[in-house]
Amino acid sequence: MLSPEKNRQLTQVGPGTPMGELLRRYWFPIGGASELENKPTKAVRFLGEDLVLYKDKSGTYGLIDRQCPHRRADLSYGFVEEQGLRCNYHGWLMGEDGRCLAIPYDDLAEPKSRLRDEVKVRAYPVRELAGLLFTYMGPLPAPPLPVYEPFTWANGFREVILTEVACNWFQCQENSCDPVHFEWMHDNWSARLSGDSTSAPRHLKLAFDEFEHGFLYRRVREGQPDGSPFWTVGRVTLWPIGFYLGQHFEWRVPVDDENTLNICWFFARVPPEREPYVQVRVPTWKSPLLDDKGEWIASHVVNQDVLAWVGQGRIADRSKEFLSASDKGIVLMRRRYFEEMDKVAKGLDPKGVIRDEEAAKLIQLPLGDKAQFLKGVPLADWPKDRLLAKRMRGQPWCAGQPDDVWREYANACGLDESMRTAP
Ligand code: FES
Ligand SMILES: [Fe+2]
Repeated sequence: MLSPEKNRQLTQVGPGTPMGELLRRYWFPIGGASELENKPTKAVRFLGEDLVLYKDKSGTYGLIDRQCPHRRADLSYGFVEEQGLRCNYHGWLMGEDGRCLAIPYDDLAEPKSRLRDEVKVRAYPVRELAGLLFTYMGPLPAPPLPVYEPFTWANGFREVILTEVACNWFQCQENSCDPVHFEWMHDNWSARLSGDSTSAPRHLKLAFDEFEHGFLYRRVREGQPDGSPFWTVGRVTLWPIGFYLGQHFEWRVPVDDENTLNICWFFARVPPEREPYVQVRVPTWKSPLLDDKGEWIASHVVNQDVLAWVGQGRIADRSKEFLSASDKGIVLMRRRYFEEMDKVAKGLDPKGVIRDEEAAKLIQLPLGDKAQFLKGVPLADWPKDRLLAKRMRGQPWCAGQPDDVWREYANACGLDESMRTAP
């Protein structure tokens, strides 16, 4: 149980709040680079700030204040130039560093005016990496962008999947350190939904270890030897807003106190016989939560999680909960966020911020067996692997994979498109 005050500290993300300040010490993903292909501007909101993301004609990304500094028009309706984003109301031109590059009327009629030099709007750096766009919204100098090792893997098909989640980010992130929910939410509940009344192997033992970039949670389930991969390596709760397992990342990106953008990144190694494979474009797509009848799509792992998070309320009331032995990871996480918020208040760098440019270029995360991601699995062996067999049938972890994305993936891997059973 937490006091309402402590709950606010964990959940408020705006500028000046303790958690908002902590989260502003890290780079985090804000979407897929391919989102700006057809329309180069996008209205976005992160950490409670309304912004516009754009890509100008020279290929430079910008993330600046949504409101034009002139008379506050919405810059997401502006148009991009060779450099910068131009407001569609009176044509002021803004650069990615937040400076004003042109005031068309004044530049002609009042050429001596220095107004242009005085104008400056909020602007945050944007970097593209592995098909994702990342930003850093904190004090300068920004630390280098961390490159996690899976982003460097070759011969893979990558995709970015977005889910809009109508609740606070922290209850989503608590799920990243909660092993027992797999048994119930993903195994037993999925079985019940398909009319199966058998029960999945129970959890017998849990352990949580901290490392520089997060926590590792390990578990033993019935029927597994103590030396099973999930006990020896475990899964990664990626500090501060992510989750990582093998070829897959998820980030619970805070939009504001009551909304989260869940961003998934998947790497799917093509079979070795399809090498060399170079992906030209990393697709980004939005995964739906509801079907045509307005019913929750509960068939996919991510949607099952989202249902749990949203069900906890817009901001989970932690003053009313009863934590149990299965919540060890959650207790650990909460304590560490409070400690790191204190560090930031004292002007120190918090956990996991990397200042060393060289170290940031390749960050290894704990991973049991990466051979299948580096070497690949011959297509003939896919039916023997539970997950790869699902992929063969076109069943991704998120609901609603668009047909063209499935076709690109199937072509990359040499899959038979007619095998697809469910998007
Ligand atoms: S409001 Fe943007 S240029 Fe006038
Ligand atoms: Fe889950």
